[in-house]
Amino acid sequence: MRPRGTGGEQSAGGSRRVRLGMTAATASGNLVEGTAVFPIGSRVNDRRHLEVGGCDVVDLAAEFGTPAYIYAEDDIRARARAYLGAFRARTDDFDVLFASKAAPFTAAYRVLAEEGLSVDVASGGELHMALRAGYDPERIYLHGNNKTEAELRAAVAAGVGHVILDSFDEIARLDALLDRPQEVLIRVTPGIKADTHTYIQTGQIDSKFGFGLEDGLAARAIDAVRGSRHLELVGLHAHIGSQIFELEPYVRAIEALAGLAGPDCRILNVGGGLGIAYLAADEPPSIEAYVDVKVEGVRKVFDPVPRILVEPGRSLVGNAGITAYRVGTVKEIPGVRTYVAVDGGMSDNMRPMLYGSRYEAIIADRAGDVPGTQATIAGMHCESGDIVVPDATLADPRPGDVLVTPATGAYGYALASNYNGVARPPVVFCRDGDARVVVRRETYEDLVARDVD
Ligand code: LLP
Repeated sequence: MRPRGTGGEQSAGGSRRVRLGMTAATASGNLVEGTAVFPIGSRVNDRRHLEVGGCDVVDLAAEFGTPAYIYAEDDIRARARAYLGAFRARTDDFDVLFASKAAPFTAAYRVLAEEGLSVDVASGGELHMALRAGYDPERIYLHGNNKTEAELRAAVAAGVGHVILDSFDEIARLDALLDRPQEVLIRVTPGIKADTHTYIQTGQIDSKFGFGLEDGLAARAIDAVRGSRHLELVGLHAHIGSQIFELEPYVRAIEALAGLAGPDCRILNVGGGLGIAYLAADEPPSIEAYVDVKVEGVRKVFDPVPRILVEPGRSLVGNAGITAYRVGTVKEIPGVRTYVAVDGGMSDNMRPMLYGSRYEAIIADRAGDVPGTQATIAGMHCESGDIVVPDATLADPRPGDVLVTPATGAYGYALASNYNGVARPPVVFCRDGDARVVVRRETYEDLVARDVD
């Protein structure tokens, strides 16, 4: 089976989608304005530079340095509103949660809180950040397949609205530390395999997450919660995977959950997972279509119809963000290949190495030019595998140029590291031509700040 929407990643079926490089006839400008990969509102400006959020990216690179994560704030807001609008058109009993693992920094939490979204946190650290950003604890959902006692205590102390229970050990652990009722959901693995990279499939029976249906563990977990002292079962949760282009598995997952908890299922959290466009040719379903499938799917098989929750991460922030690098060297190996080396790589975007993910790339200085140079974009790390894009077509790349990879707004910052002593990049939010740093660049001093000796 051909994997869909995986940006060329290795799928469960083991096949690999080969990306055909853009033809020379396709100007970068078309990529910016004619495809879904760049943030909404991006364009090629009068200087023929890439513009994002009304800001010239070449100027941003000069001002804030490179590499830098640059977001069009309005893009995030527009997608949040698209989720809310799609729900409002269909039901008044719903909630949209920001899966904050996709972009765990205060400004993202704040923007999405402002837009009226609840939040999914996957650890004590994300819980801390959500609270610091001002999230109402009631609107926080705590996830995780192995929450520590300290994390559970922190959640209880903060008054987190819902804990999603993932194991029998956790049911006992949480119940034991409570002295008041706590609303909980049970995470179910419905036995549905989504067509995406195996590392980000989560709905199949052989999973470290949640309670299986077929093996009867989900039913036993429900009994255990009902028999607990303080846990109040209010619903079920299922997340079948990430970067998903086919909506049909969601229908099957919802069908599989129907009837499982009876009237106790007042909330049904059907997870996140909607895929985004990484490549020009990617055509993910719309937010509207995704919400429609979920709402209609639930309506069809649940009676009474529970409150419907979704928790998107990537589809809120992924296309809102780009990464700007500076080209340092252009190495032509005659008859072999041209390497264009940039000042970042696997430390700011692990996804190519982790999942074989593919990205588009353009030279921001000549965003309006027709790209004609085939090149491999290499990172600066001491690993041959540190390749940002293996087969880009660029507009005459030169040292000093600003090179941009779009669609890096989700899981780029989140998975970043200090490998090779690299200071992690800043996050810059752009809106109506104004840019503000919302996370500063790390300094070399930060690299030794935790040393105690
Ligand atoms: N809910 C749960 C319980 C999840 O585990 C996830 C993602 C989401 C929601 C949000 O999924 P999204 O809408 O972003 O697809 N690092 C990988 C993705 C791992 C996703 C983990 N869980 C990547 O870079 O593709």
